[in-house]
Amino acid sequence: MMTPSARQTALHTAVSAAVRAPSVHNTQPWRFRLGADTIGVYADPDRRLPIADPDGRALRLSCGAAIFNARVALAHLGWSAETTLQPDAADPLHLAEIRLTAPHPATPGDQELFTAIGRRHSNRGPFMDTAVPMDVRARLVAAARAEGCWLDLILGPVAQHMVAELVDTADRLLRATPGYGAELASWIRERPSPDGVPRDAGGPTPEPQDLLTRRDFGGAPRAPGRDYESDPFVAVLGAYGHAPHDDLQAGQALQRVLLTATACGLATSLMSQPVDVPAIREQLRLGLHRGAPPQILLRAGYAVATGTTARRPLADVLAPMPTVTRGT
Ligand SMILES: Cc1cc2nc3c(=O)[nH]c(=O)nc-3n(C[C@H](O)[C@H](O)[C@H](O)COP(=O)(O)O)c2cc1C
Repeated sequence: MMTPSARQTALHTAVSAAVRAPSVHNTQPWRFRLGADTIGVYADPDRRLPIADPDGRALRLSCGAAIFNARVALAHLGWSAETTLQPDAADPLHLAEIRLTAPHPATPGDQELFTAIGRRHSNRGPFMDTAVPMDVRARLVAAARAEGCWLDLILGPVAQHMVAELVDTADRLLRATPGYGAELASWIRERPSPDGVPRDAGGPTPEPQDLLTRRDFGGAPRAPGRDYESDPFVAVLGAYGHAPHDDLQAGQALQRVLLTATACGLATSLMSQPVDVPAIREQLRLGLHRGAPPQILLRAGYAVATGTTARRPLADVLAPMPTVTRGT
């Protein structure tokens, strides 16, 4: 029989894992509330990007990734858990409730995903010109499906150029949007910081010959001859709907894909400019022949590790339990 403190330890470990999730500009737009055997996951609206993410879609995607990390940690610690998305219709900020159910032996797959949580980070530098093997590709597609989502691989130069064109157009439209540049700059960090993107993690300065236009986090120019891979492995992830619930589902699928990629020895990075511009998102959806809009693009490959991002202390994201007033 597990003691209450074993449950509390498991819940704390799960929140420590949750905050390792990727989030747009490393905003970490989440808060957590622990109960006796539950983790409430809440959006932090003060950390939403008003210009790049007016509807909170990227915020929900980020929180979905955090929810997945918490689920993986609990499974690794030998707990089965039930996750209810949007459990309270009256509180749209309450994104999920994760409830411990019963002890359950961890599988090797749970262990593998848990180990990947601490190793995964965005790598925006050039990858090696080594193809991602077919069995690994199949595992990534299966990872998205396991969370009720889809992952379309962008194969061959024609499809790659079509996607690259949409990324570039979206990036230009975003940069022309009043306030976008200032908002992005406000999340770039010069000195060690518990949130935001440090320059050494943001990738090198974008150059005109790069196929995929990256967000410019103000990095240093790369060494001459260090070009991006000629045949990049790019994939688009999406859900089967476009309600807030689908964003949370897609965030969980994204994180399962990223952790699976990490477990397979791949480096990954994300690109969301084309889905941040509604008209470009619709063009991408049409090009993919999908019924629901795409949620995010990812790039994977083999690479040497780059700079990483930090996280806020747990005390900053754990909301206190409401005080129980006892009658006298
Ligand atoms: C919804 C979402 C959108 C993102 N969009 C981009 C992007 O357009 N470009 C980029 O370089 N990284 C993007 N990222 C990656 C974040 O910047 C990254 O996860 C964050 O800085 C934390 O760093 P880490 O992934 O190394 O933990 C995105 C992440 C999420 C969850």
